[in-house]
Amino acid sequence: MLSALTTVVSITPKPTRRVVLDPFKISYTCDKQRQAVAELVDEFSITPSALVTIKDHFIHELKKGLAKDGETLAMVPVFVSGRLDGSESGSFLTLDIGGTFLRVVFVVLTNGQVTKQQKKYSIDEDLKVGETKVLFVDEHAIKVPAGSEIDLGFTFSFPVLQTTINSGTLIAWTKGFSCPGGVGKDPAALLQDALHKQNMHVRVVSLLNDTVGTLLAHAYQYKNTVIGLGLGTGSNAAYIETVDRITKRKGSMEFATGIKEMVINMEFGAFDKEKIILPLTMFDNKVDRKSLNQGNQIFEKMIAGMYLGEITRNILVNLIDRRLLLDGRSTKEICKVWAFDTSYMSTIEADETPDLDDTRFVLESYLGFASSDPMATLTSTSTSVATSSSSSFTDRQIIKIIVGLVGKRAARLSAMAVAGILEHTQGVGWTEDDGADIGVDGSLFRFYPGFEDDMKEAIEDIFTFEKSCTIDISKIQMRPRLDGSSVGAALCALLAGKTAAVPSSSE
Ligand code: BGC
Repeated sequence: MLSALTTVVSITPKPTRRVVLDPFKISYTCDKQRQAVAELVDEFSITPSALVTIKDHFIHELKKGLAKDGETLAMVPVFVSGRLDGSESGSFLTLDIGGTFLRVVFVVLTNGQVTKQQKKYSIDEDLKVGETKVLFVDEHAIKVPAGSEIDLGFTFSFPVLQTTINSGTLIAWTKGFSCPGGVGKDPAALLQDALHKQNMHVRVVSLLNDTVGTLLAHAYQYKNTVIGLGLGTGSNAAYIETVDRITKRKGSMEFATGIKEMVINMEFGAFDKEKIILPLTMFDNKVDRKSLNQGNQIFEKMIAGMYLGEITRNILVNLIDRRLLLDGRSTKEICKVWAFDTSYMSTIEADETPDLDDTRFVLESYLGFASSDPMATLTSTSTSVATSSSSSFTDRQIIKIIVGLVGKRAARLSAMAVAGILEHTQGVGWTEDDGADIGVDGSLFRFYPGFEDDMKEAIEDIFTFEKSCTIDISKIQMRPRLDGSSVGAALCALLAGKTAAVPSSSE
């Protein structure tokens, strides 16, 4: 079920440098190979002009989502309003069910100072597709001292149609989760039930998306925060919207209270479900077909950590099948769906050894292209399975180029979304005098070499090319923000405060 990984706050290694190869300067073994790589470069590169076109469509979809429920971009108002000033204080428990991990954190906020005690668990694959109730029930997760009562901020990083600050309805599972009995239910109520059943005196006072937590945690430190961005296993953003523009809620009771701004959970991973604007390749379509949520989260599947390795694997297998890579040899490992972890891409991107030894290491250690394992030769039964010689230098160069194409495309498309939100909110949620702060969580932004730089370059490309909107990008500060599901969730619990009712039973 849940296996404890660590009980301390993790330390973030700095992302390594990205080392780029020029696809037009390497020596290919034949023209067909050169041609195949040139085609990939063409398919995966997104020009500034194309980025602007996609960004315009993104803004169009964003506005549709603000005007009407049921649109591709859900644009969920999350009942968090008002800006923070850093003076907020209190003690809270937070629980985060995200993608890869479940975290429980006890957070104490004292006028901008934060102390935390954290427990982190990995979520088994079985749990991701097992009964929803089981996901909420595991009693290892929370330990509350007997007799005490505490408020809990619940970060649930899936598309939820929020009905109050501590209730909502799960619209769909994403990121490889598919627990029966979850869609249509209120995650906060499910959690509250589970806690009651275990006789825990914990009130679930807020339900929030991880990007909302990122936004709040960043705003606690930087008052000009406009966007909370999530670029990890999945991808999404939350931003501060003026209530007047959330036209689909005009006239509703909660909106008649005079509040001027509200946080919106965009659920932008769903962008272009219709497949009309994104430059999808056959490799992306293959990923979509193999996923548990086929036809959904199309944008997320081009940019999120869960999918980048699989896109890369599809390209490699295609070249192998055409005998243009690795002498046409494949291995059990490379043939396995989802077997190419996105972290391998980071290693390959950062490889600056003259012979690309780190790339060779990935091929040999994780993908079965072993060069010197005599046992592999003896135990192999299939002639098409690689057993003896490993990769050539050209193979490794091509692999590095392909990884670079997939990674850079993801960064540029992620930047397109940021540019779209900035353009939409300019002059309303932020002004150029004050600038805009963006807090970013997620493994891609933190660990993928060059991701942040590629994003910045793309934002610059967009606003240089875009004639109708000028944004001085020196006024935009994008910084990592890692404590959304602890500090952000605690702040959300604080904002929910005493007003939130304990969620009703899920039954
Ligand atoms: C979910 C979002 C979440 C994002 C990042 C997506 O798959 O739909 O709700 O914010 O992943 O975790």
